[in-house]
Amino acid sequence: MHAYLLDQPDHALSAEVLRSEGILYWQLPVEPSEYAGPVANICQDRGYVQMDEIFLGENTPDLAALCTKFFVEHLHTDEEIRFVVAGSGIFDLRDVHDRWMRVHVVPGDLIIVPAQKYHRFTLDAQQTITCKRLFQDTRGWVAEPRAGQ
Ligand code: LAC
Ligand code: NI
Repeated sequence: MHAYLLDQPDHALSAEVLRSEGILYWQLPVEPSEYAGPVANICQDRGYVQMDEIFLGENTPDLAALCTKFFVEHLHTDEEIRFVVAGSGIFDLRDVHDRWMRVHVVPGDLIIVPAQKYHRFTLDAQQTITCKRLFQDTRGWVAEPRAGQ
């Protein structure tokens, strides 16, 4: 994970700063046999009841349309939990001053975007990511675009 203010790329943001913004971050192993236990513990501690996997890459139908959708600023009424297992990607998240914080995630990064926090997502130059998605509740997990976006 490498995080910084989008308009100040030299201004790195630590995991502590992200936490003060309500964003939780863990660095886990990249081997399935090694991350299974820590992921199960996080699910138990935080009440995540469902997990799936999302792949984005050159073979994804409608990749461009999906990326356009994910890059529209939005929020959710539940947490958004992503554990990167391959590839890489970029989350932009609004800080309390409404500035963009850019978080570049790589395999082993588990990030939790809190409910009600505006964010967007895009691929980086690798153009592929595989993430585990964890859910508190799959009902009602919808993206709500920011007004005027
Ligand atoms: C989502 C990410 C892209 O809502 O923010 O799935
Ligand atoms: Ni989202």
